[in-house]
Amino acid sequence: MSTNLQTSPLMSTYSRFPVTIVKGKGSFVWDETGKQYLDFTSGIATCNLGHVPDVVKAKLEEQLQSLWHCSNLYHIPVQEQLAQLLVDYSFGDHVFFCNSGAEANEAAIKLARRYAQKVKGTDKYEVVTFTHSFHGRTLATISATGQGKIQAGFFPLVPGFRYLPFNDAEALADLVSEKTCAVLLELVQGEGGVVPADPAWISKIADLCRKHDILLMIDEIQTGMGRTGSLFAYEQYGIEPDVMSLAKGLGSGFPIGAIIANEKAAKAFDPGSHGSTFGGNPLATSAGLATMEYLVSSNTVQEASLLGTYLELKLNALKDTFQQIDEVRGKGLLQGIVAVEKAAKIIEKAREHNILLLTAGPDVVRILPPLTTSKQEIDQLIDALQMIFTSSLDF
Ligand SMILES: Cc1ncc(COP(=O)(O)O)c(C=O)c1O
Repeated sequence: MSTNLQTSPLMSTYSRFPVTIVKGKGSFVWDETGKQYLDFTSGIATCNLGHVPDVVKAKLEEQLQSLWHCSNLYHIPVQEQLAQLLVDYSFGDHVFFCNSGAEANEAAIKLARRYAQKVKGTDKYEVVTFTHSFHGRTLATISATGQGKIQAGFFPLVPGFRYLPFNDAEALADLVSEKTCAVLLELVQGEGGVVPADPAWISKIADLCRKHDILLMIDEIQTGMGRTGSLFAYEQYGIEPDVMSLAKGLGSGFPIGAIIANEKAAKAFDPGSHGSTFGGNPLATSAGLATMEYLVSSNTVQEASLLGTYLELKLNALKDTFQQIDEVRGKGLLQGIVAVEKAAKIIEKAREHNILLLTAGPDVVRILPPLTTSKQEIDQLIDALQMIFTSSLDF
C-alpha cells in the first residue's frame, strides 16, 4: 500500500513503516502477504489483552446486536456499569467518558480550571506540567505537553501552562504560583523516553498539592490498565490523585477515553459544563467493560508484573554484554532500551527478525508487549536483540 504523499489520499501526519497489517490475534499480527510479526508495540500500549481478545470480541458482538448509539441524553446501562467498576477499583468516585487520550486530558484540564473558578471561587487557571511530557495532540494538550517539537508551528498555544523539569526536586520550590490550580503528570513518561518518576519526588508533589489545595492529576493513558505491573501506576507510588486520565488499553483497541475524579474534583462539572456526542457510547463502553471485567477477575495484571520483571532482567543482562545499550529503564511491561541515536536502526533490524518495536524519541527503543505475553515470546525478542547487537557492533 502506498505511503507516498503524492499518491496517498491520507494526510502526511505519520511516517509509516513499510508494513501493511491486515490481521491480529494475541501477541501477533500478519501483513497482507501472510508474514507474521511478534507485536511488541501493542498498538502503542493499547491492545493490552493482545489483538482481538475473545472476551472483548464477545461483548462487542453482543452489543452490536442491540444498540450502537443513543447519545448521553439517556441512561446507558453499560456505561454506568463500566463507570462503577472503574470507581470500585480506583481512588475515584465519578467518571466522565470521551473517545481518546487527548480528550481525556482536555476534560481534566477543564475540570481543574472549573474546580478553581466555580467551586473555590478563585481566579486560578494555571496547570503545571513537566519537560518531556506528552499529553496529546489537541491545542490544549499540546500546550500541556512539555516538548517543543510537538508544539512547533501551532502558536499561539493555549495559555495557562507552566513547565518544570521532570524528576527535579529543587524545581519543586516553583511548583505553586498564585495562579496554580493543578499539576498534570505521567508516572512513567512514555513518548518522552520511558522515564519513570522518582517516588520521593512524586510524594513531595502530592504533599504540595494537598497543602495548597491544588488538584493532582495523573495521566495514566499509557501507564494504566495493568501496563506497569499494577492496574494503575499510581498504586505503586503510595499516592492518591484527585483526577486520572485513561484511554488506550481501556478499550483493548476500541476507541475510548475517560477521566476518573474524586468527589471533591468531580463536583466542578454539572449538567452542561462538559460533554461529548460519542463519549461513553454503548459499543466503546462494552469494550471497556469487558476489558475491565477481565483484568479484575483474572491474574493477568499480576502475571504481567512478573513478566515485566523477567523482561527487565533479560534486557539488563543484554546491557551488561553489549556496549550499544546505555541504559534499560521502565516499569512492568513498559520498558525502554536507551541506545543513543540508534533506536530507529534497532527497531528496523528487529523488524527484519519479524518483531515490531517502537521508538520513544531518537534514543530509546520502547518495548510494549501485551500483558498476555509469555516468557517464550520475551525470549524470542531477547534472542533477536542478541543477534542484532552481535552482528552489528558499530551501527
Ligand atoms: C501519556 C499519554 N497521554 C496522552 C496521550 C494521547 O492519547 P490519544 O492519542 O489517544 O489522544 C498519549 C498517547 O500516546 C499518551 O501516551
